[in-house]
Amino acid sequence: MLETAVHARLPLITTRTDDLLNAVDVLAALIEEPVQPFSSYNSKLKDRVYVSFGFPDKDDAGGLYRSMVMADSTLVIINSDDPVPEAFDAGVMPIPKALVKKHLQQCGADNEEVIRCMTGLTIKQVVELVRLTQASFGDVLPRHLMKVRSRLMAQTPGLIQVDTEYDLYLPDPALEKWGTRNAVYFLDPKDPRLVPRGLLLNGPPGVGKTMAAKYVARNLGVPLYRLDLSASLGRYVGESEANLSRLLAVIDQEEPCVLLIDEVEKIFQAKEDSGVTSRLLGQLLWWLQEHKSRVLTVMTTNDRDALPPELYRSGRIDKVLEVARPTKDEAIALAIETLKTFGLDGAAKCKSVGEIVKMEYGETTSHADIVALVREIIKTKKWL
Ligand SMILES: Nc1ncnc2c1ncn2[C@@H]1O[C@H](COP(=O)(O)OP(=O)(O)OP(=O)(O)O)[C@@H](O)[C@H]1O
Ligand SMILES: [Mg+2]
Repeated sequence: MLETAVHARLPLITTRTDDLLNAVDVLAALIEEPVQPFSSYNSKLKDRVYVSFGFPDKDDAGGLYRSMVMADSTLVIINSDDPVPEAFDAGVMPIPKALVKKHLQQCGADNEEVIRCMTGLTIKQVVELVRLTQASFGDVLPRHLMKVRSRLMAQTPGLIQVDTEYDLYLPDPALEKWGTRNAVYFLDPKDPRLVPRGLLLNGPPGVGKTMAAKYVARNLGVPLYRLDLSASLGRYVGESEANLSRLLAVIDQEEPCVLLIDEVEKIFQAKEDSGVTSRLLGQLLWWLQEHKSRVLTVMTTNDRDALPPELYRSGRIDKVLEVARPTKDEAIALAIETLKTFGLDGAAKCKSVGEIVKMEYGETTSHADIVALVREIIKTKKWL
């Protein structure tokens, strides 16, 4: 979009990047024409592309617009602090593949496989990744690049790798069925249209929604990442969107994996005014629908009614699963299984715990309550 906007000579264009160091080179490579630094004293503007970091003269955006029109020129404003109504917003500045290739050539590593390891990275990050991989492994083999990249990604704010180990999880029957049916289509898809895209888990607190995401990832044998959108909400205009698109590009790279968007309703309840939430939602909807990577998205919520329905319509995710509180029998079974994880499953102890659970059970009892109750019983009775 940025290149088209420049070629169309739109007078004022705003764009964003994290890589200020290479921004001018990236822009020039993208539009394939030279770029001049903008100076407000330059009275001889003519049919050129100018660039400025931040808005040069906020009080006279209209004047600037007119002078650009007169000179048949374009001013590209990088990382403007405030919205500029006169400007066309071209979003995040993409990184042209040719420029990535050029930088990789300098390191003697410009084959297609290596280039594929670089998607979603800025030029600065490409150079850093290559150097760090060279220093760690003495080469830049794709698998080494990916290893260093995922180590670096552990530092990506907003994306947290979650441990998928747990002592005990009694899967929800509907989830188990879905998992069994879909695993092969995720791990070894014969046709991309059959790759499962994701689930929305709706249910009250403590019924194992977050656990379910771990279960799904563990069953598939792939890593689980949690998307923390609050960490990517930026202070500057466009920063939040830029952060989210970077996170989504990073997650695409990590395929195959499971992406957990926990308590998804909270994102859309955030109090803010400038339309950031709706733009983030738009971006997320677009990615959920269009991503080609094998990333399975598991969203959880306590309150499905608070969610925009387009978030969970077919095509974006495959299924909405209602996760219910345990029945009395399920609660007793869970209590016994919990006892087993402590090695305390003798008949007398199981019977005693079963009776306590029967007494304590109510219609709001959750799985988490049962696990907590068993732990309390063990302590009170000093079984361990
Ligand atoms: N199906 C289950 N089998 C075994 N233990 C479970 C199950 N579901 C929940 N638990 C227990 O309950 C605890 C809380 O589960 P989890 O965090 O997944 O609930 P949640 O539904 O995500 O709750 P919230 O809505 O509050 O985030 C787990 O740590 C686990 O001990
Ligand atoms: Mg949870």
